Amino acid sequence: MNQKNSNIFILTNNATGDSWELPVLEGSVGPDVIDVRRLYADTDHFTYDPGFTSTGSCKSKITYIDGDEGVLLYRGYPIDQLADKSDYLETCYLLLYGELPNPEEKSKFVNDITHHTMLHEQFNAFFHGFRRDAHPMAVMCGVVGALSAFYHDSLDINDPHHRMVSSYRLIAKMPTIAAQAFKYSIGQPFIQPRNDLSFAENFLHMMFATPAEEYKVNKTLSKAMDRILILHADHEQNASTSTVRLAGSSGANPFACIAAGIASLWGPAHGGANEAVLTMLNEIGTVDNINKYVKKAKDKDDPFRLMGFGHRVYKNFDPRAKVMQQSCHEVLGELGITNEPLLDLAMALEKIALEDEYFVERKLYPNVDFYSGIIFKAIGIPESMFTVLFAVARTVGWISQWNEMIEDPTQKIGRPRQLYLGEDVRDYIPLDKR
Ligand code: SDX
Repeated sequence: MNQKNSNIFILTNNATGDSWELPVLEGSVGPDVIDVRRLYADTDHFTYDPGFTSTGSCKSKITYIDGDEGVLLYRGYPIDQLADKSDYLETCYLLLYGELPNPEEKSKFVNDITHHTMLHEQFNAFFHGFRRDAHPMAVMCGVVGALSAFYHDSLDINDPHHRMVSSYRLIAKMPTIAAQAFKYSIGQPFIQPRNDLSFAENFLHMMFATPAEEYKVNKTLSKAMDRILILHADHEQNASTSTVRLAGSSGANPFACIAAGIASLWGPAHGGANEAVLTMLNEIGTVDNINKYVKKAKDKDDPFRLMGFGHRVYKNFDPRAKVMQQSCHEVLGELGITNEPLLDLAMALEKIALEDEYFVERKLYPNVDFYSGIIFKAIGIPESMFTVLFAVARTVGWISQWNEMIEDPTQKIGRPRQLYLGEDVRDYIPLDKR
């Protein structure tokens, strides 16, 4: 395939001499794309890209990543500026609507979300169907999917008002569901949301308050939580967002689509990595063991990977990891935790890995999950809740991408093809002849 001019690729079949012109679609920034939508009809061939390493699945204006430069933009705004200057609900508005809200827009949005944080009282029954020791992500998959059994008044995906009502409900209710999943797992009573608290303060209050005594939200922790929510809010067409888009392309309701996204996020190669990092650090135990585990990570015969390292897109530092590491030091310092062995271990591991040829050659850097668990642990979040927090934060990204897909007049049901390597047609063999 070669490029005739800035807008056309020529595809030539050397065996037959046939050639086809493939249009190039230009992005506002980042790589252009070769439009292969006509390829099968014209050439009777599919493209083949099982991990979608070279495939653009959609058009989007929401999030841009430059993996080589370590750049992440939400609607054009750099993630470090948003983490430093914005707050989570303002970032939600930005992702949903494309622009930062003015004071009136922000006040109304915050008020609307705040007044949708409660759950239908009958919802509590869902939690009681789970074992107390159920993983909270299993509870999230089930309970979020069940939202579609309660909110029939906002399931018409072709009605913009219904879409926004569902979007607000999901953003508002996810922290309540997450906190209730945690409370259920420890046998404590559910704590209802409070409208006088910010999104992050309210979440911490629902997680850690008890009816027995007043719980005062630590401002340092709620600010760190709010920043972590911003960092996890969206990330282009990652596995769970692609899952939400694919589920939504069939016309499934938004609650079911977000439940599908939660299921995909759970995997240790994706959102489950933050929990896996803490498990790994605890398994490594001391700085003296680091080289043994780095060796295991490099051993092709060993399934062990350095969790929190590497990324499909970032071939430089994940900008979120940098902010997370700074937050680590701030939170631990503010909490007076001068000696956190896990942080010392993580920093030593990062130093050793980044000096190792294997990681340097493959451009494996710490990703968003490498430091997040250490902050979560300092805040008092149990490891089993780490990926749940990721799901709470990412809900706005999932639902913004879902809305963008539904509003795209050219969107079609996602239906990939395959390279078939199975048997050709053959006749049935009766049982007595096998
Ligand atoms: C998230 O996509 C997103 O945007 C996701 C996310 C988001 O915000 O939505 O950023 C969140 O999921 C972050 C990633 C969290 N996952 C982990 O930390 C798990 C550990 N990382 C790896 O599993 C891996 O790096 C992936 C899954 C993240 C990326 O895998 P790729 O892009 O498919 O890369 P690969 O598996 O082909 O690896 C390339 C090479 C291989 O070696 P070779 O075959 O070339 O010899 O690098 C090696 C891999 O073996 N490698 C690692 C490694 N990651 C890749 N070796 C050891 N330890 C690792 N962590």
